[in-house]
Amino acid sequence: MYRSHTCGELRDSHINNEVTLSGWVHKTRDKGFVTWVDLRDRYGITQLVFDEDRTSSELIAKARELGREFVVQVTGKVIERASKNPNIPTGNIEVLVEELIILNESKTPPFTIENETDGGEDLRMKYRYLDIRRNPVKNNLIFRSKVSMAVRKYLSEEGFIEIETPYLIKSTPEGARDFVVPSRMNEGQFYALPQSPQTFKQLLMVGGLDKYFQIVKCFRDEDLRADRQPEFTQIDCEMAYVEQEDILNAFEGLTKYLLKEVKGVEINSFPRMTFDDAMKKYGNDKPDIRFGMEFGELNEVSQHKDFNVFNSAELVVGIAVPGGNSYTRKEIDKLTDWVKRPQVGALGMVYCRCNEDGSFKSSVDKFYDQNDLAKWAEATGAKAGDLICVLSGAKNKVRTQLSALRMELAERLSLRDPKVFAPLWVVDFPLLELDEETGHYHAMHHPFTSPKPGQLELLNTDPAAVRANAYDLVLNGNEIGGGSIRIHDKETQATMFKHLGFSPEEAKAQFGFLMDAFQYGAPPHGGIAFGLDRLVAILGGQETIRDFIAFPKNNSGRDVMIDAPATIDETQLKELHLKVEL
Ligand code: AMO
Repeated sequence: MYRSHTCGELRDSHINNEVTLSGWVHKTRDKGFVTWVDLRDRYGITQLVFDEDRTSSELIAKARELGREFVVQVTGKVIERASKNPNIPTGNIEVLVEELIILNESKTPPFTIENETDGGEDLRMKYRYLDIRRNPVKNNLIFRSKVSMAVRKYLSEEGFIEIETPYLIKSTPEGARDFVVPSRMNEGQFYALPQSPQTFKQLLMVGGLDKYFQIVKCFRDEDLRADRQPEFTQIDCEMAYVEQEDILNAFEGLTKYLLKEVKGVEINSFPRMTFDDAMKKYGNDKPDIRFGMEFGELNEVSQHKDFNVFNSAELVVGIAVPGGNSYTRKEIDKLTDWVKRPQVGALGMVYCRCNEDGSFKSSVDKFYDQNDLAKWAEATGAKAGDLICVLSGAKNKVRTQLSALRMELAERLSLRDPKVFAPLWVVDFPLLELDEETGHYHAMHHPFTSPKPGQLELLNTDPAAVRANAYDLVLNGNEIGGGSIRIHDKETQATMFKHLGFSPEEAKAQFGFLMDAFQYGAPPHGGIAFGLDRLVAILGGQETIRDFIAFPKNNSGRDVMIDAPATIDETQLKELHLKVEL
């Protein structure tokens, strides 16, 4: 038996018990006459004691030789500590060691296994198995498991069946590039790894399993960011005989349950906002509504004077920064530099101070009088003591820029409290999106999303105006889930493919299986997929999903621990009928 208890378990009530523990040597302290060793495992730390009065000299010598991260097994008696440590649950006791077995030695780890480590990101990724021994990473993984278990419990109790779908499939268009796998048995042919199980879950609805879910890996070859990994996990769901309202209710239920179960918070408000409103009020389709700073459009109250920058702009729009009038001129200049960085791309920023006495002082006083500026304050909801920041330019661009500024200021003003949870449904997304580079439309969600009733005809005349039965669930400014009501008849699906630029032959070759299935009594259906990594990170109060994934990839898509991707040898290339010329 390696252990009778864990290192997090022993309390006063165990005093005088004979116990066996196994774990890693976290730290040793040698005071000459007494040596302490902190023994650590997943559950906590227990102090071991060796002293000259009560421990044999051989055992003390052995204890002194223990290095950091050695794996040991000890047997001894639980005793009361002379000086207690109220900071850890086992702080009242220690184990007076009678037997010490070194189960394995350890090289000195390349960084300290502490909550605050001295190891940089790259080093920690290379030795991820050591990083996982640290509480912050370990606790995140335990937290993730708790969320997954709660998801399974809730959905199973609601009658959803968990079904696995294949990984070696054909392209599923979710907007990213595919990862492909060459087929040895089918020369020159490739599988694609699923960007999502989208088509399979729809086929399960045709198969009559009307409530499906799966916690499933998805693969997308896209540029990486803090909230994006090339392989990530979805809570993928689909239901038959449902309308949008049914889906929103069902998954509001799941989200409420998770918030209660894993965070102990009760949230009953799931406001809804149309995509158009989200863009107008926040310049963003995933607004963080934990704080205000809503956009105020200023065209009407700023394009009547001789200020050409505004007069020539498609949109003049501002936000009120709470308490921003306290900023010095230098701080405002810095803010202007911030919006002018290439990552944001604004050409400049106009500002207006809202003084305590009700007067205004703007950077464009030459053009605007107090009356004009009062109207700006009204439109942006600015109060005395605030600062109005105004950007102008092409509508979409300027909204994105002001949204970036809003988020940055909220961060600086600590308005993004990770303990506050503010979900939001964004609904009525456009069906199609114009790719500015190619001039072609592509599906904003995916090509299986149905247009809102009665809007199919609009596809021919004003494709950009067609709204979809599509929705996203946003939590604290992050898109944690997205879904739609699907097309379930062959004709509509064929029309959709036509508008997306597929010839009938191409559509048949790529999605013939789905259109065939639609001819055999496909029920109306719809669904949603949550990004589990994102959901877990946000519930955990963070936004970087990497910290909640056991073995994540770095920003270049590499696993630096196993050193992948890597080249493969000639024989393997040959077997796969591949030629690589570098
Ligand atoms: P969508 O593409 O919106 O929808 O993806 C669903 C959710 O998955 C998460 N997500 C990601 N998380 C981490 N890394 C990534 N690279 C990544 N990409 C997406 C997001 C997103 O909201 N088949 C549809 C769902 C449906 O229609 O039912 C789909 O995949 O949180």
